[in-house]
Amino acid sequence: MDQAGVLRKIKRDNKDIYAINPPVKRKKRNSDVRVIAVTSGKGGVGKTNIAANLAYILSKWGKRVLLLDADAGLANVDVILGITPQHNMSHILHGEKTLSEVIIHGPGGMKILPAASGIQEMTELSRGHKLTLIEELDDLNENLDFMFVDTGAGIAGNVMYFNMLAKEIIVVVSPEPTSLTDGYALIKILHQGYGAKRFMILVNMANNSGEAVNVYKRLSKTANDFLNVSIEYIGYVPCDTSVQKSVRQQSLLSEIFPSSKAGRQFFLIAEKLCMKQVEESEKGMMKFFGNVFVDRND
Ligand SMILES: Nc1ncnc2c1ncn2[C@@H]1O[C@H](COP(=O)(O)OP(=O)(O)OP(=O)(O)O)[C@@H](O)[C@H]1O
Ligand SMILES: [Mg+2]
Repeated sequence: MDQAGVLRKIKRDNKDIYAINPPVKRKKRNSDVRVIAVTSGKGGVGKTNIAANLAYILSKWGKRVLLLDADAGLANVDVILGITPQHNMSHILHGEKTLSEVIIHGPGGMKILPAASGIQEMTELSRGHKLTLIEELDDLNENLDFMFVDTGAGIAGNVMYFNMLAKEIIVVVSPEPTSLTDGYALIKILHQGYGAKRFMILVNMANNSGEAVNVYKRLSKTANDFLNVSIEYIGYVPCDTSVQKSVRQQSLLSEIFPSSKAGRQFFLIAEKLCMKQVEESEKGMMKFFGNVFVDRND
């Protein structure tokens, strides 16, 4: 291990001490970077496609974007993009590489932080790993406008962690009843267990906008009846064979079929995200990592 690696290891091994007595004054955080988690209760509803396409469009519009593959253990951003990263998040967490050594450049000029695929240890990040990641990302945020966090599905610890890393959460649902109930369960746990209050809903694989709006209405009614949360409709992506074609070609839909039915909706959602005013942080929340926490059970 080189000297920088050794230093990183020492720092990591003494994380708790550093947390109490930071050795250097921390840099001012960039409160303008928008950290957006793309998440879902049910798997396979289109999170990775959505995160990657939105990241691509915003990059093409001149924004500085990082796509963070947070499906730690089961990475698939690289598969969707047809890239084979040499290093991934596990190298950062083991102190073998820095973030800048692991980040790669993707289509449209976006940056990508690849996850590790098939590494059991990555499926439940330890407290130390979570702190390391926050610290590394913190150093990067000054050079970013958007960070999209493509999470795994469900309610496992990692998924909760990465959702709370973000200030904005897009919950992806499909019109299938199981996707709706799982989406509601995720919102409920993020709200009741971790204090998240605002959610954006994106309906994927809808037949048309009417169906998507109905799906959103059903979800928001249940959430409003039982939870004290704000649920906002951010748009929909229709069921479109162009999506599957682009996945098979390991290219992004917005790049190769921008005027397809689904492609047009991605542009509208990206536009809406840009227009959306960054809502004021809630009282007492940190500026950048709005909801950051470390698992209570760690
Ligand atoms: N709008 C769409 N129209 C048609 N097919 C779609 C659409 N969105 C996604 N798909 C299909 O669903 C598959 C799964 O999408 P994706 O990998 O993005 O889901 P995911 O939510 O990230 O899954 P996981 O939970 O496993 O991470 C895609 O490979 C694609 O074939
Ligand atoms: Mg995925």
